[in-house]
Amino acid sequence: MPHQRGPKPHALSGVLVLFMALGFVTAAPGALGQSAEPLGNAGRGLAIWEGECAACHAMGPGAEHDIGPHLNRLFGRRAGALEGFTFSASIQRMGRDGLHWDYRTLDAYIANPYALVSGTRMAYPGLDDPQARADLLAFIRLHSDMPADIPESAPTARRLEVELSPEVLGLEGDREWGEYLASECTTCHRRDGAAQGIPSITHWPEERFVVAMHAYREGLRPHQVMQSVARRLTDEDIAALAAYFATIDE
Ligand code: HEC
Ligand code: HEC
Repeated sequence: MPHQRGPKPHALSGVLVLFMALGFVTAAPGALGQSAEPLGNAGRGLAIWEGECAACHAMGPGAEHDIGPHLNRLFGRRAGALEGFTFSASIQRMGRDGLHWDYRTLDAYIANPYALVSGTRMAYPGLDDPQARADLLAFIRLHSDMPADIPESAPTARRLEVELSPEVLGLEGDREWGEYLASECTTCHRRDGAAQGIPSITHWPEERFVVAMHAYREGLRPHQVMQSVARRLTDEDIAALAAYFATIDE
């Protein structure tokens, strides 16, 4: 499966429509500002990630090594240097030689892994389309340089990020309304609670869920997509979603 080239069209369309609805345009233009590369669209990048990379790599809060290493905080990292993953001798050597992951080196590696790291264990044929690579890198960029994404700080270990009034915290969620609203969320978050690339949001204590959503709505959590999602929700909507996802059937 991972040997397919290019994004899967059916996976793309749904997510694209969603991102257009959110008015979500592009990620981290500053990071790529001076380059002549095509500017990436993180919304399209998410779908490419799911189709091309997520079978082997995890990314996002709590991501762990899988067939490939987790790709949190990838930008600026030395190649083949993460603890706890057995890299090929080839990529370790490249890292010792000074290979760091930046826009240019990642673009080259994703275009053709063997061209950059001849003996890499990454069995991936390469992504030919430069625009697709730019989109993918814009998405991966969302998971770099964000304290909230540091894998060591599992969501459970986080402090409550926002002060919420007892009235808001005490709102009783309308589970049926939550189920209705949840159809948007489950285009990205898995209903069965699996976390591949996108974190799991099922069976959370309701209060933790409510606080996290308000933190996105107030911009305290940096993730742009989730900020746009949360800003369209009322306090009642959030309570309803918390009630639904807390008790969702497996
Ligand atoms: C078939 C499984 C597989 C697929 C699909 C795959 N990778 Fe990998 N990836 C690996 C493995 C295994 C390694 C370790 C490479 C080595 O040790 O040489 C790796 C390494 C990497 C690294 C180097 C990480 C580091 O810290 O040095 C990056 C970056 C990367 N992959 C990005 C991607 C992206 C982006 C995609 C999707 C376009 C992708 N990979 C698809 C298996 C995969
Ligand atoms: C377009 C994809 C997408 C959609 C749609 C989406 N999310 Fe998310 N969500 C994400 C991503 C990516 C993250 C990880 C963000 C981060 O790193 O802060 C996330 C994070 C979260 C978190 C925090 C998870 C954690 O471990 O801290 C919650 C809670 C959440 N989403 C709830 C929702 C709800 C509720 C909806 C629907 C109203 C929704 N999301 C819709 C992509 C999406």
